[in-house]
Amino acid sequence: MYFTINFLKPYFETIPGYDVAGVVENEGSQVKKLGVGDKVYGDLNEKSLDHPKQNGSLVEYTAVEENLLALKPKNLSLVKAASLPVAIETAYEGLHRSAFSAGESILVLGGASGVGTLVSQLSISSATLRTAKQDLLKSLGAVLGIDYTKENIEELPEKFDLAFDAVRKARYGTVHGIACVSTAHVPGQA
Ligand SMILES: NC(=O)c1ccc[n+]([C@@H]2O[C@H](COP(=O)([O-])OP(=O)(O)OC[C@H]3O[C@@H](n4cnc5c(N)ncnc54)[C@H](OP(=O)(O)O)[C@@H]3O)[C@@H](O)[C@H]2O)c1
Repeated sequence: MYFTINFLKPYFETIPGYDVAGVVENEGSQVKKLGVGDKVYGDLNEKSLDHPKQNGSLVEYTAVEENLLALKPKNLSLVKAASLPVAIETAYEGLHRSAFSAGESILVLGGASGVGTLVSQLSISSATLRTAKQDLLKSLGAVLGIDYTKENIEELPEKFDLAFDAVRKARYGTVHGIACVSTAHVPGQA
């Protein structure tokens, strides 16, 4: 007897995506706080950065545990809400793991990025981004914008206690001598 094996067809088809936003269509018997018709957003995983258990949010319908969802703020569209969960988890978790504390100064590399704009809103920062985006930075509460296309951050007169690297410039936990938390390497993560 012969078997035919199609090596080109993957055995496991993967649907990507952790972030979700949408309207609850159905609820399980254990659900307590949310209900059908609620507009919600969240992350399919409790710990996306360390231990993602599942993916598959880039679909029309998905099943999510209730505790991973929150009611969507009314002033956010579903599209905007879907852009936030993992990015803000990355920003918050990076600051948390770096043990950044009140009174310290932070330089955000990639200040105009999704993650970088959220770091600026969680801290009072200085950030690298193009001159054309300086107004965005000030609106987020950053105190100093540095145009990375014109200035060399190695030659800045300002000193910083921590760099948050959202453009993966860092090597071995530092960027130009500044202790660094990076989207490429978060302290405490292998
Ligand atoms: N978004 C998430 O949910 C998420 C989650 C986990 C990890 N990450 C990681 O976090 C990092 C940022 O992702 P993102 O989604 O936030 O990026 P993004 O929104 O796509 O933005 C990338 C930004 O980087 C800026 N940039 C490029 N080169 C730069 C440089 N040399 N100096 C300063 N800024 C520079 C670009 O600015 P210009 O447009 O002005 O060039 C752009 O604004 C990536 O490493 C990503 O893998 C993201």
